[in-house]
Amino acid sequence: ATVYIPRDTTALSLGADKVAAQLQNQQPNINIVRNGSRGLFWLEPMIEVATPKGRVAYGPVQPEDVESLLASDFLQGGSSHPLYLGLTEQIPYLAQQQRVTFARVGVTDPVSLNDYRAHGGLVGLEKALALQAQAIVDEVKTSGLRGRGGAAFPTGIKWQTVLDAPSDKKYIVCNADEGDSGTFADRMLMEGDPYCLIEGMIIAGLAVGADQGYIYLREEYPVAHAILNEAIACAEQANILGDNILGSGKRFNLQVRLGAGAYICGEETSLLESLEGKRGMVRAKPPLPAIVGLFGQPTIVNNVISLASVPDILAKGGEHYQEFGTGRSRGTLPFQLAGNIKQGGLVELAFGASLKTLLQDFGGGTRSGKPMRAVQIGGPLGAYLPEELWDTPLDYEAFMAIGAGVGHGGIVAFDDSVNLSQQARFSMEFCTIESCGKCTPCRIGSTRGVEVIDRITNDEQRSGSLEEREKQIELLEELCDTMVHGSLCAMGGMTPIPVTSALKHFPQDFLPNAAGNK
Ligand code: NAI
Ligand code: SF4
Repeated sequence: ATVYIPRDTTALSLGADKVAAQLQNQQPNINIVRNGSRGLFWLEPMIEVATPKGRVAYGPVQPEDVESLLASDFLQGGSSHPLYLGLTEQIPYLAQQQRVTFARVGVTDPVSLNDYRAHGGLVGLEKALALQAQAIVDEVKTSGLRGRGGAAFPTGIKWQTVLDAPSDKKYIVCNADEGDSGTFADRMLMEGDPYCLIEGMIIAGLAVGADQGYIYLREEYPVAHAILNEAIACAEQANILGDNILGSGKRFNLQVRLGAGAYICGEETSLLESLEGKRGMVRAKPPLPAIVGLFGQPTIVNNVISLASVPDILAKGGEHYQEFGTGRSRGTLPFQLAGNIKQGGLVELAFGASLKTLLQDFGGGTRSGKPMRAVQIGGPLGAYLPEELWDTPLDYEAFMAIGAGVGHGGIVAFDDSVNLSQQARFSMEFCTIESCGKCTPCRIGSTRGVEVIDRITNDEQRSGSLEEREKQIELLEELCDTMVHGSLCAMGGMTPIPVTSALKHFPQDFLPNAAGNK
């Protein structure tokens, strides 16, 4: 029998290695395949048995469950064990998704090239090798793909800028410094389907004439690091990377570089500084990295998911990809459900579904069982949204219209025990810690922001009368305005978003006694 046990960080942190060892120990003739995670985190470690009907899932499995599983009809995919979940593909959480970029994640052995090819891998690269650079860029433009790191800039236009920049040396840099709270899509992709990212980077290289790529990976992802390095070594051996890509005579080399834990190193220009071996300080734009990037050369800086979306776009055509989605938000986004949520995990959906669908149909409400009160979407610099806004369709423009952003698709849920003034304080405090220090509104403004919020809300520090505290709120709003307009990068420029959204939608958490604030 073949049994799949994930080797992804989430499953490992919940005991997947012990389950694998226990199973192998008790049944030495079982063929254990270590796959990625399917992204149903509350069921991890979720293990699967291959049967003629398809793969059958069981979870969450602990080492002590192995004995009873083996004593049951588990190896035949039977339903008698209490941890039986049915055919994996029919679990509603998975069946209701549109897995495009994550089609192979959790299905294949992440480092097996045979598995990758058997599941549609390398078709996009083979097509790209037969095309002129401009035709590859045009295909990405047709797809409507926009930057999945958060800023949603059209990927095809970014590639065009790099293609048009005259230079003998260009670079492809993958931003894998996934720093947003509640996000893990990049990690899951790299741990579950690393060849997809590698293939996307090679195609990017062919599209703009770059022969060197770097994956800038956050140090906190050691499993992704090991899997990427293993996959890169196999790809080199198989002539997918190196001086003769699939016998074409074309060249692309790829290396992983580790970040050291600074949030700001996810900002593209400080990432480039860090990659060059310097302190991660933000560079002024312009010039854009597309024109003057790594070591002063034209550089594509794209997020993991943007690059990993490309092989499928080349394989099936940009037209096919842009059929998913709504308005100017084409394709799919891997949403990540985190925080106080019953069924946390990864949900890939075409743009256009509502936040409510994600929170209720997929998430199943709060884990605490208390009413859900707020969600933060788009990372620590994203807006806090109350229930009235959860019907907003998940698309870039619709979110912009309500003063929020979809960002990298991270959604963090809170129940009614949350105090939004304290969450606002946390945003300012986060900025004091993570600011690179280059500009005043961010470096000093965030410290003043913490102090002002304390004067409004902290019983010991707050200045007595309601009137005085209302003045402090005005001061906070002015400070936010200065940060938005005076900061050099998104760190200082977006920190006010969680603060002002909390003030707007949850004023009672700041001034419980004010008229109208119930
Ligand atoms: P931005 O809007 O300045 O730039 C977006 C991208 O488009 C950049 O790569 C920029 O170089 C490029 N670009 C702009 N105009 C161009 C042109 N004419 N030709 C070619 N390229 C062009 O946004 P920024 O500051 O890069 O990113 C901010 C976003 O980052 C936020 O929206 C936030 O959601 C996200 N973010 C994501 C995190 C994560 O963990 N994924 C962490 C923190 C923030
Ligand atoms: Fe640095 Fe903050 Fe200025 Fe960005 S806004 S350049 S992080 S000081």
